Amino acid sequence: MSDFRLIYHSKANAELDETSMPALLHQARRSNRGRLLTGALVLHKGAITHLLEGPQVSVMAVMKKIKADPRHREVEVVLSANHVERVFPEDALDYVSLHPDYLKEKGGLPPRTAMSLEKLLALHPQKMLTYLMPVFKDLVRVARPDQDLSDRKVRTG
Ligand SMILES: Cc1cc2nc3c(=O)[nH]c(=O)nc-3n(C[C@H](O)[C@H](O)[C@H](O)COP(=O)(O)O)c2cc1C
Repeated sequence: MSDFRLIYHSKANAELDETSMPALLHQARRSNRGRLLTGALVLHKGAITHLLEGPQVSVMAVMKKIKADPRHREVEVVLSANHVERVFPEDALDYVSLHPDYLKEKGGLPPRTAMSLEKLLALHPQKMLTYLMPVFKDLVRVARPDQDLSDRKVRTG
């Protein structure tokens, strides 16, 4: 069966953060499983990037609810495509958490999470870079806290 893909970007409202996210994910995953939807969600400094894949009617039905959800605002569809092969065929809703405490504790991103980000980026590098670049910049900062990247000299000889 041919699948539909949609990616939107939005800004989380105050009540949507690392603490309230598990409840949202729990409910969303259950609902997505019932509709044969899969996808991934990145929350970073209040910015959400969410990919949904599955039957077009289901994606559109859920998207309508998501758009009207008061937990976030400025919902903007950044990519939609028909007849796709899913890039996230297994997860009802993979979650990429980039909370600084979490990253410090883990010493960076777990491999599976890093893979999710790379997959998202690969979908439309130009468009996705706009949304995911701040994420990657912060990851570099966490990975190399002692290095001041702004002061790198270029050797010319
Ligand atoms: C950022 C964000 C992402 C969401 N993702 C999903 C999702 O993938 N699937 C889903 O069913 N609901 C998702 N929701 C929740 C829906 O907006 C809505 O609350 C949910 O579908 C329950 O609606 P209902 O009680 O009318 O069935 C999301 C909400 C937000 C704020």
